[in-house]
Amino acid sequence: MTGPDLASRLTPVQPPQVADPSTMVIFGATGDLAKRKLLPALYNLNGEKLLPDQFAVVGVGRQAMSADEYRDKVSGDLGEFGTQVVPGACEWLERRLSYVQGQIDEDALYEQLATTLAATANVMFYLATPPSLFGPIVRKLGAHGLLDESRGWRRVVVEKPFGHDLASARALNRLLAEELDERQIFRIDHYLGKETVQNVMAFRFGNGIFEPIWNRRYVDHVQITVAETVGVELRGSYYDKTGALRDMIQNHLFQLLALTALEPPISFEAEAVRDERLKVLNAIQAIQPGDVDRIAVRGQYAAGRLGDRPVPAYRDEPEVATGSETETFVALEVHVDNWRWAGVPFYLRTGKRLASRASEIVVRFKSAPFSLFRETPVEVLDPNELVIRVQPNEGIAMRFQAKVPGPDVQLGTVRMDFSYADYFGLKPNTGYETLLYDVMTGDATLFHRADIVETGWRVVMPILEHWAATPDGVHDYPAGSWGPAAADALIRRDGRRWHAPGS
Ligand code: BG6
Repeated sequence: MTGPDLASRLTPVQPPQVADPSTMVIFGATGDLAKRKLLPALYNLNGEKLLPDQFAVVGVGRQAMSADEYRDKVSGDLGEFGTQVVPGACEWLERRLSYVQGQIDEDALYEQLATTLAATANVMFYLATPPSLFGPIVRKLGAHGLLDESRGWRRVVVEKPFGHDLASARALNRLLAEELDERQIFRIDHYLGKETVQNVMAFRFGNGIFEPIWNRRYVDHVQITVAETVGVELRGSYYDKTGALRDMIQNHLFQLLALTALEPPISFEAEAVRDERLKVLNAIQAIQPGDVDRIAVRGQYAAGRLGDRPVPAYRDEPEVATGSETETFVALEVHVDNWRWAGVPFYLRTGKRLASRASEIVVRFKSAPFSLFRETPVEVLDPNELVIRVQPNEGIAMRFQAKVPGPDVQLGTVRMDFSYADYFGLKPNTGYETLLYDVMTGDATLFHRADIVETGWRVVMPILEHWAATPDGVHDYPAGSWGPAAADALIRRDGRRWHAPGS
């Protein structure tokens, strides 16, 4: 339902404001993130009339390129990666683009930037570079006075991965804190930019009917799945040192968990929401080294098939070490040790080269008492289930029992299904629009604070350490499957089973 019908369904809230006049400086301007996400997102934001007229983008890269060549490149990339690019409509953005070439560690680059930004009050520095450059760039920006806020705001967006473990995340936080105030730092987690993820809070707290049952009395357990069909693609050299626990669980899945489990914040102000997200992570029961093998399963994809297509094993992917033991799949059981969730397991799983692409949060409720249906075998009576589909087919489904029409009493499982596309239509979206807009308006709600990142790392450290000490514990799974059998066993042991995405 779109158009006039949609308008009648919207609950009036404040209309979005045009962002502050500002300049966005992109380090890594010729890289993948800039071309696939950042520039198309700016394009879409402009389409929504959320960028001010006094807006500019300065691309920074090592490649020698004139501003005109950079503009041509961006316009070509927008044609390829922009969603619904209208011919000629790139001009608005192109007119605002310039390019600065230089080496990250050389002062000349920052001197040139200082000249370029001389007349600009508000600047966003976006670090779309390899993580090893985050620290050096911020140091140089500081040394050249580019982070000084006497004339306007200066904000730094730090991409993931934020550290490789707790110690390196702490070291990076310390370095950032020497050059910046915490309020100037925007640590990005692109999962928080997804509409459906933001909707978790709207769903929980904008409705009166769910919150009373959102606790251990009614919820049997929660499952969070982020399944990908893609393999490691061309990121083997990064991924082989990283693995799925660092790449996905410690950040994206923990944030999905935090939003599902958090207490109602006192307001939607950034600090109030971030305080509640932090509390959830802090409440995750500490994982004892001796328990790791019981609560966590790691897997690695072997050769297999995706549809009709044969796909190679992880170990045969480019830039992956022969005999690599890096995990491309993780299943994990955690407990949030607080009043609301005591005794309710949260099962998380993520993997590459799985059977289908599906990210979802499943809240499975306790079964009804069987007093009325004594003849019905318990396992036949499906429990109620709420499925929040994060992607694709964004939406929310509720599964419940209904009487099958007929003279005798028989129950069947049925579902009510809400789909975003049906109600709100589909807007062009890369997932970065909201995040970039929030940086420009100074709203840090969807970004990580130093303590949130460190707590995420603290939770996974015992697993990382145990796995490093026992590298041969990785289970193979065929590409195109739902992961290793050990992951099924992990949840079956508790008398439960994984939700089949799409069902
Ligand atoms: C990134 C990971 O953060 O998220 C990738 O580094 C992963 O390995 C990606 O593929 C998944 O994001 P999305 O938005 O495609 O679900």
